[in-house]
Amino acid sequence: MTMISRVVRVRACYVPPLALKPGRAHFSSSVPARAAGSSAKDRLSGPLPPYGPVGVARALQASPSTPAKPTIFEHEFSLADRVALVSGANRGIGLEMALAIAEAGARAVYCLDLPKAPGEEFAKVKAYVARMEGKKGEGRLEYMSGDVTDQEAMWKLGEEIGKREGRMDVCVAAAGVLKGDTPCLDYPAKQFKEVLAVNVNGVLFTAQAAGRQMVKFDNGGSIILIASISGSGANQGHPWVSYNTSKSAVLQMARSMACELAPQRIRVNTISPGYINTSMTHQFLQKRPELLERWSSNNPMGRIGRPDELRGATVWLSSDASSFCTGSDILVSGGHHAW
Ligand SMILES: NC(=O)c1ccc[n+]([C@@H]2O[C@H](COP(=O)([O-])OP(=O)(O)OC[C@H]3O[C@@H](n4cnc5c(N)ncnc54)[C@H](O)[C@@H]3O)[C@@H](O)[C@H]2O)c1
Repeated sequence: MTMISRVVRVRACYVPPLALKPGRAHFSSSVPARAAGSSAKDRLSGPLPPYGPVGVARALQASPSTPAKPTIFEHEFSLADRVALVSGANRGIGLEMALAIAEAGARAVYCLDLPKAPGEEFAKVKAYVARMEGKKGEGRLEYMSGDVTDQEAMWKLGEEIGKREGRMDVCVAAAGVLKGDTPCLDYPAKQFKEVLAVNVNGVLFTAQAAGRQMVKFDNGGSIILIASISGSGANQGHPWVSYNTSKSAVLQMARSMACELAPQRIRVNTISPGYINTSMTHQFLQKRPELLERWSSNNPMGRIGRPDELRGATVWLSSDASSFCTGSDILVSGGHHAW
C-alpha cells in the first residue's frame, strides 16, 4: 500500500474528537495499547482520562450555561493520589524532584538513598511537606535506605511500597555518582565498574523495582531516568569517560524500555540536566573555583542551574500533561546543548 492510500484509508474512518467518550484509564498518562484489534478510534485518540476531554475538545463540548473551569493544573499536571519512588533522594536533584512530586498532589513519595537514616536536609523537607498549606494531597515523603546496585533488594523495596500503598505510578531514577577527572587511557577497571554499577545497573534496577509494580497494579505509569548533557556530548575539559559512557547508556535504556513498555501504558523518558548546583558539582568547585566561570560560559545563559529549575519538567513528565511523550530526552541545560 502506498503512503497516500494509507492516509486516505485512515481519513475515511476519522472519528470527530467530540464523539469520543472518556475511557476508564486510571492513569491516563499512557499511550494506547497496541493490542490486536485496536480500533481506528483508539489509534486516533488513545484512552481518554477519567476526567474526560480537556482543552479545545472540552470547550466545544461544554454547555454555554455551565461554568468553565481550567483543567490544566487541576487535572493534567495533578499527581493527586499517585505513589512515587525516587532514588538518590536524600539530597540534591532527587530530593528536589521528590518535593515537586509531593507538591503536585502525590499521596506518598518513597525516597531511597544509601544512608541508614536520612540527613538533616531531608528531615527538614519532610517536615515542610507535612505542614504545607494548599498541598493538593497527602504528600508524604517516606525515607527508605537502599543501594540501587542490589537488584534483589531493589525489587523487594518496590514490592514493599506496592504492599503498603496498593499502587505505583511514578519512578525517578536519580541516584548517580561522578568521580574525579581520570584520563581515559589510564582509567582503572575497578572505578569504571563502580560508576557503571550505580549509573547504569542501578538505574535499570530502580526502574525495574517501580515498573514491576506498575505492571502488577495495571494503572500504567511514568518512569523518568536522570541522564545528563554528558550523555550526548563530552564535558569540555573534563576526562569523565565512565560518567559520560554511563549517561549515554541511560539515554538508550530509556528509549529501549519505552518501546517495550508502551503496551503496558508505562512511559519512559529521560531528563538531561546541564551543570546544576548540588553536592556533585560542589566537590569540584570547592577544589577548583575557576570551574564556575568555565561551566557558566558553556551555555548561552551564562550560569549553572539550580536544582529547583528541574521541578517543572519532573511534574510534567510524571503527570498526564505529558501523556503522549515517551522515549524522549528532555534537556534542561540553560542551552548548553545549543552551542
Ligand atoms: N549536579 C549536576 O550538575 C548534574 C547534571 C546532570 C545530571 N546529574 C545527575 O543527577 C542525579 C543526581 O545528582 P545530584 O547532582 O543530585 O548529586 P548528589 O551527589 O547530590 O546526589 C546523588 C545521590 O545519589 C545517592 N547514591 C549514590 N550511589 C547510590 C547507590 N548506590 N544507591 C542509592 N543511592 C545512591 C547519593 O547518596 C546521593 O544522595 C545523578 O544521576 C547525576 O548524575 C547531575
